[in-house]
Amino acid sequence: MTTLDDAVFDAAVAAAIRAPSMHNTQPWRFSRRPDGIDVIADDSRRLAVADPSGWAVRIACGAAVFNVRLAFAVHGVTPLVRLRPEPRDPYLLARVTAGPPHQPTSIERRLYAAIPRRRSNRAPFAPQPVPADVRAQLLQTARAEGTWLELVIGPAAVGAVAEIAHAATRVLHRDPAYRAELATWTRPDGVAVDGVPADAGGPSPEPHHLLPRRPFAAPGSSPDPGVEPEPLVAVLGTPGDLPGDQLTAGQALQRILLTITDAGLAASMLSQPIEVASAREQLRISLGRYGTPQMVLRIGYGPPGSPTPRRSPAETVANPAEPVTGSTDHTGSGPTTPRPAVHRP
Ligand SMILES: Cc1cc2nc3c(=O)[nH]c(=O)nc-3n(C[C@H](O)[C@H](O)[C@H](O)COP(=O)(O)O)c2cc1C
Repeated sequence: MTTLDDAVFDAAVAAAIRAPSMHNTQPWRFSRRPDGIDVIADDSRRLAVADPSGWAVRIACGAAVFNVRLAFAVHGVTPLVRLRPEPRDPYLLARVTAGPPHQPTSIERRLYAAIPRRRSNRAPFAPQPVPADVRAQLLQTARAEGTWLELVIGPAAVGAVAEIAHAATRVLHRDPAYRAELATWTRPDGVAVDGVPADAGGPSPEPHHLLPRRPFAAPGSSPDPGVEPEPLVAVLGTPGDLPGDQLTAGQALQRILLTITDAGLAASMLSQPIEVASAREQLRISLGRYGTPQMVLRIGYGPPGSPTPRRSPAETVANPAEPVTGSTDHTGSGPTTPRPAVHRP
């Protein structure tokens, strides 16, 4: 067993908490082990309405795992990752332990440096296209993580994805509980340590927008500076849709987002067409792909994005005296339950 230095553990948690999460719920906890770190789903922070199966928790925690991997690597430690190391514990999502000494690569250093600069950027992007070499890099990045990325090319294909996303949004917003939950996580005053502040919410959604935005901003609160003519739309997917696949998707998502940030580009995520089972299936068919779409991304050149808050690392690290797994409000549809075939009308 290789002992993990406190400094590396601290760096890993500081990096992990910068991962994206749906509505910025930050549904993770971290537990110190002599040789590494456990990444645990915090089921009390799962979105009960929007995330009944725990899919979004696993995407977010997977993204946190990727940041832990980078923190280990740049501190000269090989990260050894085991997903679901104790299969009977549905909340223990990953264990990252210290392997042999590692010489960090320049890419690892650059991606690690991009962690604090990465943010979801919902502002309209410039018409300038995403360069071909960056597109190729993104495809390669997805493959390296065992996932696929489909770049949606051309107005007809982008329009089809947009229509699926709008239809899914309409389905979701018919549910008052969904709207209420979203409102709970929207922070007009920007003082909370979680949720999405209005500044980061981008322009309020307008019917003429090509892609549906989440209404994090108060209606009319930020002027709508227009619509990008043709953003690069990409869909990230996995061969399967078990909890391990979703954790893999989260790691790939974060690696892609950091690669985008490192290239000087911006991105935002759209998960409405993933949340509605029928829309997700339509999306898969429209892409002609096997497997499961896990996230839709919008990529381009944007103005500087606004940061979102985080709880402090100390708030996310489990006290060694308390149990770190299990949940106080587990309803039986917890985070390892595969996504139900249909969980929305
Ligand atoms: C599973 C998942 C689903 C998300 N869905 C959306 C979405 O549909 N629309 C959106 O604007 N942002 C979405 N986000 C981005 C989060 O709102 C964002 O990560 C969070 O507010 C933290 O902000 P940051 O990414 O700037 O750190 C999603 C993120 C995750 C991990």
